[in-house]
Amino acid sequence: MIHYNPETRTFSLNGRSSQYTMQVDYNERLVHISWGPRPKDADETAVLSGNNRFMAAGFTSFEFQGSKDELLAYGDTTMHEVALKIAFPDLPASLTEAETLHTPIRDVRLRYKSHEIVMDAQPGLLPLHGLPTQNNEPRETLRIQLQDPTQPLTVTLCYRLTPEHDIFERWIELYNSGDSALFVEQCSFASLHLPSRTTEITSIHGSWAAEFTQQRQIIPVGTFALGHRSVQTGHSSNPFFMANRPGQAWEESGLVYFGTLAFSGAWQIAFDHQHSGDVRVLGGYNPFDFELVLAPKETHVTPAFVCGVCENGWGGASRRLHRFARERVLPETPTRPVLYNSWEATYFDLNADGQMALARKAAAMGVELFVVDDGWFGGRRTDFAGLGDWWVSSDVFPEGLQPLIDEVHQLGMQFGLWFEPEMVNPDSDLYRQHPDWVLHFPGRPRTEARFQLVLDFGREEVVDYIFTAIDTILSQHDIDFIKWDMNRNVTEPGSVAGKAIWRAHVAGVYQLMDKLRQKHSKLSIQSCSGGGGRIDLGMLARTDQVWTSDNTDALDRIRIQEGFSLAYPARAMESWVTHEKNHQTGRIAELSTRFDVAMRGALGIGSNLNELDAAELKDYARHIAFYKKIRHVVQEGDLYRLARLEEDGTTAVCYVLSDGSEAVYSVAVKDHVLGFYRSPMPLHGLVSHAIYTITDIDAYEVARLTGYELMVQGIPGDAIGTAGYSRTLYLKAAG
Ligand code: GLA
Repeated sequence: MIHYNPETRTFSLNGRSSQYTMQVDYNERLVHISWGPRPKDADETAVLSGNNRFMAAGFTSFEFQGSKDELLAYGDTTMHEVALKIAFPDLPASLTEAETLHTPIRDVRLRYKSHEIVMDAQPGLLPLHGLPTQNNEPRETLRIQLQDPTQPLTVTLCYRLTPEHDIFERWIELYNSGDSALFVEQCSFASLHLPSRTTEITSIHGSWAAEFTQQRQIIPVGTFALGHRSVQTGHSSNPFFMANRPGQAWEESGLVYFGTLAFSGAWQIAFDHQHSGDVRVLGGYNPFDFELVLAPKETHVTPAFVCGVCENGWGGASRRLHRFARERVLPETPTRPVLYNSWEATYFDLNADGQMALARKAAAMGVELFVVDDGWFGGRRTDFAGLGDWWVSSDVFPEGLQPLIDEVHQLGMQFGLWFEPEMVNPDSDLYRQHPDWVLHFPGRPRTEARFQLVLDFGREEVVDYIFTAIDTILSQHDIDFIKWDMNRNVTEPGSVAGKAIWRAHVAGVYQLMDKLRQKHSKLSIQSCSGGGGRIDLGMLARTDQVWTSDNTDALDRIRIQEGFSLAYPARAMESWVTHEKNHQTGRIAELSTRFDVAMRGALGIGSNLNELDAAELKDYARHIAFYKKIRHVVQEGDLYRLARLEEDGTTAVCYVLSDGSEAVYSVAVKDHVLGFYRSPMPLHGLVSHAIYTITDIDAYEVARLTGYELMVQGIPGDAIGTAGYSRTLYLKAAG
């Protein structure tokens, strides 16, 4: 619930277990007061009356912004990191000649003007595909208008509260009420004030094939920034953090703040840790090479910074984000199907007969979605050529795609196809016809990465052309699924859109996805960018699942998937079983280990099925059948990380349905030190008095125990051994 007290001019945002309070001070500035847990016995009437007097007394001449403005803007006496910096070209009427040299005016002063509480205001770049999410209940949104006293600028701070998950989305709206353009030089979606010395930051970094590496560190006084400078989210960092006071949070306890951006382009989350102990977080557009020209009477609405606070440690924070993504972000679809992707089986050496043969084998083992990857179109026989030419290659499919699609459908599977819509190979018809359609600086080299250039989505005609090309294929064929790839970073970002390309590209991609989904309502989309390079809440709002990493080595995946689980739900995490000897790492892993790890998300198969003998094919089918039995728990349940890699060299997780009636327990050991003994790990989220039957893949009853026993002592006998050991168990409560 959102409350406003007109006497003290205090705003209180009450979630189920957290509160957020701010106040208009004596100077008409909107200042932050508190953000944290609510006492458990507090009811809706318990709100703060504010503390104007204290704040007034707290000012010193050097630290004016000790007052913690809700939106930190460059102006007044600010010297700290800011969320907003604007240059105003208009000059006051009475200006001496010398003073004209003092321009443009870079001084934003935000003063309270008005507020309203509305239902379900929307942040920028929201999905336009019109598909429902699991929960579409409207949510209260507080909109507070702040105005500069003399410049033609109104900034509306928006807070949309999702009370059932204690999460709120924050964004800002910038309105230029004047007659000249305003130049926005820096723009975050929000600034957050964390309690003093909340300096232990958990974040994610990585690279191709090594995504989602976790990092936990205590940041020193100064500025620490996470970010990526391209037109996709990036492998190098993910727009997500958790923060706690050093040493005061653990997996299942301790106060943890968290935030993530619903945006898939050049982003930054900066932490400004000040000597005073203040920690401010600024999340939004990356300020590097940033420019936003706000035309007269124009409004810019930023995407959302999704934030929350949780008393149940890092695990509790992850669960809130997972539920929020499942229920409020991802388009509503049935549980994700078991997928087969032929990429690692055939790479570019594909043909119609070969794909048909793979499809038959895939269907026989229980696969539900058959995906043809790269190489089916234009002159794309290697990665040197063909990107941009989105028509079915008669070299690969002399009879067209339809016979394969028909076969796949007759086999009872859905059909999926790979696209990389934003790219072009110089060796392609598209590039030969439109060499000016790529990002480049005139007269400068066009540097290729993976032999490809990036299309200029600042040009409307380019986005329209790509829409028509993909739409034509989707209209001519019965295609259920697109794997949407994006295989290079942007360098040399010259565009007809100027510096606005950093945002225009993302808007173009979102628009394409939304339009395609709107027109082809049964279409699902998987986001891929050289593996996990484009995963964020903006992308999850228009896709159904994401490709976590091109690294399909089961033991590497243990780590990658644990990092993924910090922020994103298992339902969206596509994970494949591939060959016994991994193509990238050369490491050999048991089939059961490969399945146990892959079954922690949306299961896929990427092996060359032609290389498997009858016994192996049967074993695949056995695992897939088991996955189908447990997947509703994996994809819809709450995730508890029982053992984490950094502590135990192993990961054990359990997924539990919200009523505690069913659970899945999964353990996988990455490293084992001889002589080291791991005791069984107590489970979480079960019902103490319920009796659980615990069965393995063959429905063999491993044990029958109460929830209390399981949550206190774990599964007896589960003392875990050597590297590569793994197992998955299904728990069902009686009755
Ligand atoms: C990227 C993807 C792979 C595969 C290839 C195809 O690397 O991450 O999964 O689709 O492109 O070229």
